[in-house]
Amino acid sequence: MYKKIYFDELDSTNKEAKKIAEQNKKELKELVVISKTQFKGQGNHNRIWKSHEGGLYFSILLRPEAMLPLFSLMAGVAVIETLKELVNLDFKIKWPNDVLFNKNKISGILTECKFIGNTLDYVIVGCGININQKDFDDFKNYKATSLYLLTGKEFDLNSVLDIYLKHFNKLYFNYINSNSEEILDKLNKYSVLKDKKVIVDVGENIFIIGKVIGINSDGGLIIKKENQKNEIIYSGSILSFE
Ligand code: BTN
Repeated sequence: MYKKIYFDELDSTNKEAKKIAEQNKKELKELVVISKTQFKGQGNHNRIWKSHEGGLYFSILLRPEAMLPLFSLMAGVAVIETLKELVNLDFKIKWPNDVLFNKNKISGILTECKFIGNTLDYVIVGCGININQKDFDDFKNYKATSLYLLTGKEFDLNSVLDIYLKHFNKLYFNYINSNSEEILDKLNKYSVLKDKKVIVDVGENIFIIGKVIGINSDGGLIIKKENQKNEIIYSGSILSFE
C-alpha cells in the first residue's frame, strides 16, 4: 500500500515527490506526499495553484512499467468517485484535467513523468482538491468552489485522502493490467464536454471549433468539426463549452 509522508508546508508536493523519487531509486514504488499548504503549488500551463489551508494537496509517486495515456484522466475519475462517495452531487470532468461542479472548479491534476533514455523512471500524479476552503481569490480563467461551499460542512482531509487512494488504486491496478474499459466508460459518463460545442486553443494561434464526440483510449478529445471531419487533440485549453 501507499506510504504517506505529511508536511505542514512545502513549495509543491509534486516537487517534493520528485526529489524523493530521485533519492530513493527503485525501492520506493508507491508513495504519497501530502502538504497542508504549498507556497509554489504548480498548475498546468505553468500556472500557480493557490494552496491555502483547507484544501487537500498531494502527489502520488508511481513506478509503472510504462507511461500509459490515461493516467491523468484516471486520476480525475478517482476524484469524481471520491467526491460522489462524500456528497451525492453531479461532479464532472473537464478534459484534460479539471473536475467541476456547475462549471466551478473543485479539483485539478498535474501529472508529470521522467524517462531515462526510453525507460520510464517514475510518474507523479499531483492532485489538488478544494475541500474546506471558505473563499477563493478571483481567478482570471475560472471560478472555484469547495466541498464546504457546496455543503456547508467540513470534511476530514485524511479520510478524504484514504477514500481517494481506494478509488485511485482500483482504477490504477485494473488499468496497468490492461483494462482501460472501466476508465473510458467512466470518463465518457462524467465528461462535461460530451456533445458540447467547444472552442479549443491548441497553441500557436490555432483554435479548433466543433462538437465533442468523446475521449479515446489514448486520452485524446475527439471533436467533430463544422466540416464534419473528426479531429483528435491531445493537448490544449478549452476556451468555452456550451
Ligand atoms: C491544474 O488544474 O492546473 C492542476 C493543479 C494541480 C495542483 C496539485 S496540488 C498538489 C500537487 N502539487 C502541485 O504543485 N500541484 C499539484
